[in-house]
Amino acid sequence: MKYGFSHRVRYLKSSAVREILKVVNNGNVISFAGGLPDEALFPVNAVSEAFQKAIQFDRKALQYGETEGVYKLREQLANRMRQQKQIIRQPEDILITSGSQQAIDLFARIMINPGDVVLTENPTYLAALQVFSSYETNIVAVESDQDGMLENDLEDKIKRLKPKCIYVVPTYSNPGGKVWSLERRKALLQLAHKYHVVILEDDPYGDIQFEQGDTPPPLASMDQNKYVLYTSTFSKTVVPAIRIGWIVGPHQIIRLMTQAKQAADLHTNSISQYALVHLMQDFDLDQHIQVIRDTYYERMLVMKGLLDEVNIEGMSYIVPKGGMFMWVNMPETINTTDLLQIAVEHGVAFVPGAPFYVSNPKENTMRLNFTNATPDLIEEGMNRFVTVMEKAKVQSVENAY
Ligand SMILES: Cc1ncc(COP(=O)(O)O)c(C=O)c1O
Repeated sequence: MKYGFSHRVRYLKSSAVREILKVVNNGNVISFAGGLPDEALFPVNAVSEAFQKAIQFDRKALQYGETEGVYKLREQLANRMRQQKQIIRQPEDILITSGSQQAIDLFARIMINPGDVVLTENPTYLAALQVFSSYETNIVAVESDQDGMLENDLEDKIKRLKPKCIYVVPTYSNPGGKVWSLERRKALLQLAHKYHVVILEDDPYGDIQFEQGDTPPPLASMDQNKYVLYTSTFSKTVVPAIRIGWIVGPHQIIRLMTQAKQAADLHTNSISQYALVHLMQDFDLDQHIQVIRDTYYERMLVMKGLLDEVNIEGMSYIVPKGGMFMWVNMPETINTTDLLQIAVEHGVAFVPGAPFYVSNPKENTMRLNFTNATPDLIEEGMNRFVTVMEKAKVQSVENAY
């Protein structure tokens, strides 16, 4: 039977890595592959109470709702962003979405015509690449280092390619775990203003900061509500299953995204939104976030300590200041997709770095998640990893000849 699918299905690829990682759920593999928060830290009682209250006290929690999202929740978010991020926006400028993933999708839906250019970092968040690809975007990587995009290359590409938007994860990025410096943030904003390019700032990890004080402010806090759209989520700080994210930015853009959302799913789940209203009133979310920060920081240090002990020439890694990931560069002779197969056989998994690249993938890179395993499991997993790397070292020496 010929179903006559749209040509967009070409962009819906299932990756080889996903196939290998399917076996990871069999219980014998310690996985550093996923991007999952730790279930043991979920505020189960608070979430349960919040849902009960939502259903008991708010009939509207069970009703169809406004596409924009529950006004009270948008008010709470506006207050929270003002107090904690110095992002000054009105509730009317906020759209509640089904996770920040939907915010990226709706944004692309209203901005991108086939062939339009979007500039990104290289590597960057895989599922954002999938969204942009599905709208037939010409995704172009800007050269970057640990501090963010390189200004000259950025300006050159803006001038030559006239991008529709620049997509960035400037704070504790996925996959690289990096934080853009204040200077690079300012330079990006200045160029966006100069050439009138919209920035999509994706910030799911900004709250998961390991040490006080040294994280530069979000781009959205330094913008006059003209060029930056800022999206974030409760997935990493409350629970991902609640599927609540939001996007805030210029009114014109948010209004069109709201219309696009209406066509997509009418509105975000009402019960989850009302539950969050109660949760934010009755639960000490900040204290909870502090527990998450402390726990993940400790785990990152355990993983780092064990990586420090691995003696492989040419291996290096980035010590993140927040977020959920460590980015590892293996010696150039090692292909991490091949290595994953060996790793899984030894009961440990990671994600190879190549799929996160827009172009020129570095086949020797990998992303390690440190949030979803206890310190004991991290230790056991890293021990297995060392065995795998020792094997890889032998192979890489063989390959070199
Ligand atoms: C950079 C980035 N953006 C967006 C998301 C989507 O998060 P959610 O849809 O759960 O809010 C994730 C999830 O891992 C992410 O890492």
